[in-house]
Amino acid sequence: MSNSRRTAADARSAFQSCRSPDPKDRVQFYDSWAETYEKDHGLASYRAPHLAVEFLSKNFCGSPEEALVLDVACGSGWVAKLMFELGFRNFVGVDGSKGMLEQAVKSSLYQDLRLALLGSQQLPAQTGTFDVVIIVGALRPGFVPVSIVRELCQAAKPGGYVCMTRVDPKSESGDRYKASMELELHLMEDEGLWTHVATEDMHHYMVDVYNNHNKEEQNEQYLNGTMYLYRKKEYRRYF
Ligand SMILES: C[S@@+](CC[C@H](N)C(=O)[O-])C[C@H]1O[C@@H](n2cnc3c(N)ncnc32)[C@H](O)[C@@H]1O
Repeated sequence: MSNSRRTAADARSAFQSCRSPDPKDRVQFYDSWAETYEKDHGLASYRAPHLAVEFLSKNFCGSPEEALVLDVACGSGWVAKLMFELGFRNFVGVDGSKGMLEQAVKSSLYQDLRLALLGSQQLPAQTGTFDVVIIVGALRPGFVPVSIVRELCQAAKPGGYVCMTRVDPKSESGDRYKASMELELHLMEDEGLWTHVATEDMHHYMVDVYNNHNKEEQNEQYLNGTMYLYRKKEYRRYF
């Protein structure tokens, strides 16, 4: 169906049919969803890219136009489009869905787009290369596993930023994912890999299209999450 004829009901049914716990099935689903992805997410008031880019930019010290950005699970390129408006110019994108990467190509913002099913395949990024590594909308059960967090840090330059948003799907698996991710973030800080810059709630990042709430439960109708920002440690020189 064309974008202009999509309704909120179409969007809700697309979100609800994307429930496989297998990341391979999920990215295949995104292949078929790619063309109406942005329209459907707009209809669900999806604000994660806006909130994440605002969170990053208010904590970022450096020159946006010179920064090399790795946009992980880049999807259609929404995050890069918003970062471009703030002066960022150099982007590399990674996603597991060919269909979503085809949408990202249309933005003409990426120097390179790489296909990889994260969790099964390594993050295709050279160690110590990026000034900013950002992942939005994909740190949740059945999408990108927590183990990827270390690879995000590896891809950053010393002193580079790693900006992550974690989606809170209101489920037991979501609670386990949150606990495991936050443990990994702290462990990596204890290991001296990075320093914590900021953590912020991602309030009302989209309508809870997965559950049917009654109209009185206004506060229950939105999904929330958390945004985390770390800075990779500079190498120490002993001479
Ligand atoms: C909700 S979209 C977020 C896209 C974009 N960052 C945004 O905020 O609009 C989730 C993206 O993660 C990708 N994805 C999900 N699981 C993945 C995996 N294991 N490896 C690579 N990409 C994955 C999907 O293909 C999809 O493009």
